[in-house]
Amino acid sequence: MKIFVDSADIDEIRDAAAMGVLDGVTTNPSLVAKTGKPMKQVISEICEVVDGPISAEVLATDVDGIVSEGRELAKLHKNIVVKVPLIADGIRAVKTLSGEGIRTNVTLCFSAPQAMLAAKAGATYISPFLGRIDDIGGDGLELIEQIVTIYGNYGYTTEVLAASIRHPVHLTRCAELGADVATIPHKVILQLLKHPLTDIGLARFLEDAKKIPA
Ligand code: E4P
Repeated sequence: MKIFVDSADIDEIRDAAAMGVLDGVTTNPSLVAKTGKPMKQVISEICEVVDGPISAEVLATDVDGIVSEGRELAKLHKNIVVKVPLIADGIRAVKTLSGEGIRTNVTLCFSAPQAMLAAKAGATYISPFLGRIDDIGGDGLELIEQIVTIYGNYGYTTEVLAASIRHPVHLTRCAELGADVATIPHKVILQLLKHPLTDIGLARFLEDAKKIPA
């Protein structure tokens, strides 16, 4: 399973990259806004740190605007994946962009039929937001399972990129269900490593090591 960091914060991205576990990066307008820097600057900085797919989101919502913004973003670096919202004009734009060989990540997916149309339009990635479904009392993992099953049934090549991951159990279940990628906030990547028995066990080993004769 590929692991992406869901962040626009260059320090967080550097830290995750330094662990050697990072395959790519996803950003969104809210994450970029938090940096206080212009979008293109943020994306270009990320491209210098990570050699893998880097999702940069368009702000246009009409097909012509999405296509032209997507082309501009794709020119920034060979690793750019154009992130497009799951609306009718977004799907139309994905068809055009994918026809030009520009990779796309269709974002804000909350249902299996949405995911089917994104795949048929030629999306490289589909991003179901499981945490936001859980937030309103739904079952985000059920959506991941549905999309993985449907894509498998029909041989769609679009990769399932599990997004809006909130805790380590989300990642474990997505991996069990066969999602291709998980995009994870930096703080959750750190949580993945934590287990109280690891800390207790290490403390005990280090204490016992003091009794080993030199
Ligand atoms: C995915 O690409 C999104 O940036 C992200 O996963 C959204 O997560 P959130 O629901 O925690 O904002």
